[in-house]
Formats: sequence, structure tokens, C-alpha cells
Amino acid sequence: MKPQYRLMAALAVAGAFWLAVPEQVLTQEQPPEIGVAADPLKRGQAWFYQRCSICHVGRIIVDDQYQPMAPALTGVLKGATPEREKTIREYIERGSLRMPGFRYNFTSQEFDELMAYLKTL
Ligand code: HEC
Repeated sequence: MKPQYRLMAALAVAGAFWLAVPEQVLTQEQPPEIGVAADPLKRGQAWFYQRCSICHVGRIIVDDQYQPMAPALTGVLKGATPEREKTIREYIERGSLRMPGFRYNFTSQEFDELMAYLKTL
């Protein structure tokens, strides 16, 4: 078979397969997104484990012990006044010399969820 005929035959076969795909397969609804919890607190927890745990939960081995790179956030917002909460939020948004800022990583709703989770620590 000449190369150009071979190409035409291949295109014809591909075309036949395309026509054979039933319409409903192409228009099928996507499955629901997995991993997005309905509970806002659970989402806040997910943000924490995605973005903060690498530093704020012990993992680094120092003297044969797992130690966090950054202070544990346990109780950081326990009984916090609204001013203190605002300060902490701004700190997380801005970051520091040793911590990245998260201003652009979260929508304000996601930030609220994260803050709500931090209050439970
Ligand atoms: C790259 C490592 C790193 C990541 C990631 C990180 N932090 Fe930090 N964080 C630090 C360090 C280090 C400190 C200690 C203070 C300093 O050096 O700025 C700190 C301090 C803090 C403090 C102040 C603690 C206190 O006792 O006053 C808060 C609150 C905080 N981080 C929240 C967060 C949150 C929330 C996230 C995730 C959105 C996060 N951090 C992600 C490294 C990190």
C-alpha cells in the first residue's frame, strides 16, 4: 500500500470510531468533585494540612526526634479577642521572614474556614 493510502485508511478507521461513540458518552455529566468536604470546618482542616502542616506539624528529625520547623499552633486562637484574631489573620496573610504569606492562596471564604479550624486547635 502506498504511504498516502495507508494514511487515508488510518483516518477512515479513526473516523469510524469517532462516529461509533454514542452521544450520551460525550455529553455524560462529570462525576462530582471528590475531596471537597461540605462541612466548612473540615475544609478549614484540609487547608491547614495542605498549606501549613509541612512546617507547623512535626516532621523534621532533630536529635532523632520529630520536631516541627515552626511552633505548633495548638491554642494559638484559644479565647482570642477579635483584635487578636485579626492580627493573626493579617500575620498569616503577610507572612514573615521564615513563613510565606498566604494572601493570594485562599479566597476570603477559604480564609474564614482556615481561621475557624485554627480556633479548634
Ligand atoms: C515554610 C514554613 C511555614 C509554613 C508553610 C507556614 N508557616 Fe506559620 N510559621 C512558620 C514559622 C517559622 C513561624 C515562627 C515565627 C516566624 O519565624 O515568623 C510561624 C508562625 C506562625 C504563626 C504565629 C504563631 C504564634 O505563636 O504567634 C501563625 C498563627 C502561623 N504561623 C500560621 C500559619 C498558617 C495558618 C499556615 C498555613 C496557611 C502557616 N503558618 C504556614 C513557618 C511556616
